[in-house]
Amino acid sequence: MRKTIIAGNWKMFTTKSEAESLAKGLAAEVGSVTEVEIVVCPPAINIETVISAVAGTSLKVGAQNLYLGKEGAFTGETSAPMIVSHNCNYVIIGHSERRQHFGETDSSVNQKVKTAFEYGLIPIVCVGETLEERESDRTFELIATQLKAGLADLSGEVLTQNKPIVIAYEPVWAIGTGKVASPAQAQDVHAFIRGQLASIFSEAKAASIQIQYGGSVKPENSKELMGQPDIDGALVGGASLKADSFSAIIKACI
Ligand code: 13P
Repeated sequence: MRKTIIAGNWKMFTTKSEAESLAKGLAAEVGSVTEVEIVVCPPAINIETVISAVAGTSLKVGAQNLYLGKEGAFTGETSAPMIVSHNCNYVIIGHSERRQHFGETDSSVNQKVKTAFEYGLIPIVCVGETLEERESDRTFELIATQLKAGLADLSGEVLTQNKPIVIAYEPVWAIGTGKVASPAQAQDVHAFIRGQLASIFSEAKAASIQIQYGGSVKPENSKELMGQPDIDGALVGGASLKADSFSAIIKACI
């Protein structure tokens, strides 16, 4: 049985004091929830503040990105050991905004997933098609490529060492646009993703991997989306920036 996992991607929002009050608000509203896994991913500079604010609750904290290796002359980057040293458990990898604005590719996604595994972080690997790709009927082909290349050479770690991994399906056209994929549209792609995971890893492993949906998830649509058989959670942007809306999304899934 897959546990629902709801993650908030705060993107480049929140100053230190805003991050602290948002995290404290969430801790008060949903800090004792254990039926659903809850993860918040603040900007790296606010991770320490958020970790302190949610200490002693069931909320987990993740990073939005990492760079390869342990350390080095890479100005502006954050390494996996730095993230781990703050007691973060998760890291988002290959978000479409990183692909679009920072030149990330399936190959860099693959290297970053390997780095996350090496340092004991659970990667939340993002895939998803643009509007143009959907309209030209290339959604499934594109997702298959993103998964095959992004998850290449990882079977050993995922199967033998049993390292956890989360996949997030985020159709680019639904991110921040208010245009949510219909539950049936999302379910179609999620079932396809699970099939791909079965061929990359194994049938049994694919059945255990949580697949989140992301793109304009709100309290009003979360319950129906999460009710689909292959949708195991959500990666939430805008609605994760207010304690009441993010908590309402979580409560709708319990
Ligand atoms: P919105 O929920 O704002 O559409 O963002 C989704 C997203 O990109 C989460 O990673």
